[in-house]
Amino acid sequence: MLAQVPPANIASRNGTVFNDGWRPILKVNPMPELSVRQIVKSYHNGDDGETKVLDGITFDVKDGEFLSVVGPSGCGKTTLLKVIAGLLEPDEGQVLIDGVPVGPGHNRVGFIFQQESLFPWRTVRENIEYGLEIIELPEEKKRTLSDEIISLVGMSGLEDSLPHEISGGQARKTEMARSLITKPDILVADEALSNLDAQTRNYLQTEFLRISEETGSTVLFVSHNVDEAVFLSDRILVMSNIPSSIIAEYEIDLAQPRNRTSPECLEYRAKILDVLRVEQEKAMSRQTRQRPPVST
Ligand SMILES: Nc1ncnc2c1ncn2[C@@H]1O[C@H](COP(=O)(O)OP(=O)(O)OP(=O)(O)O)[C@@H](O)[C@H]1O
Ligand SMILES: [Mg+2]
Repeated sequence: MLAQVPPANIASRNGTVFNDGWRPILKVNPMPELSVRQIVKSYHNGDDGETKVLDGITFDVKDGEFLSVVGPSGCGKTTLLKVIAGLLEPDEGQVLIDGVPVGPGHNRVGFIFQQESLFPWRTVRENIEYGLEIIELPEEKKRTLSDEIISLVGMSGLEDSLPHEISGGQARKTEMARSLITKPDILVADEALSNLDAQTRNYLQTEFLRISEETGSTVLFVSHNVDEAVFLSDRILVMSNIPSSIIAEYEIDLAQPRNRTSPECLEYRAKILDVLRVEQEKAMSRQTRQRPPVST
């Protein structure tokens, strides 16, 4: 597919620099743009009422962009990702991929879940190939695709292991591979690197970046961890406490690879944490108000 590039120096996600003005370039892996428009979602609460969780969430994700969303606990991050992935219907609003509205059940998004979700009785390869089961493909083709993705995520040699025989980090890579094997337009990751020790988490952040760059994926990444978001992202959105909306946006204008302890990274971190702290305090006071009084 042909695309126009602006006259400035443009570093593509695979590192190529185009600097000779407007000209058509061959996009290695053209990705559609995601548009999220005025999403509203409420849930029934225990008091026969409704709690509005998402209140008009609107943003775009550009082709090949790595966009992170951070927000206080319980602000609706997972709810938002499920709406985008077609796993949950919004009360209002629309999700568009490449300008075309998508509804519940669409399969344009690869989802990495917040909880570990590998089938314990399936091997690494069988878990990864599960992503292909809804598509009718000859066994040989499945094998070629899974070989390719196993090598990409660095799991060669562990194809026949069961989930209890691999580490937590390797399990996350297997989940990533299962999401990527269908070559989704957009990869959506919900706290994909949580519940890991700090060393493994740092290593997997670098791996996640490498894999998303090699596949040219558009990534929507949810994280509690602001350091991680600054380290990985082209742009970061901050969600408010519920009913939540997008209250801040930061372009992370730093070249990759980044040094997580550089003054620039720490400055972004401090700014974002300041905004988040206020929202986290509101979330905590809401949860305290909702708690039933302790009987004596
Ligand atoms: N199926 C459901 N029914 C009722 N309420 C729900 C349901 N799913 C989520 N909620 C509520 O909606 C709010 C947002 O939940 P959600 O899981 O989207 O938040 P989150 O930002 O992903 O939280 P966390 O940071 O803990 O992962 C929470 O108050 C939660 O209790
Ligand atoms: Mg969540």
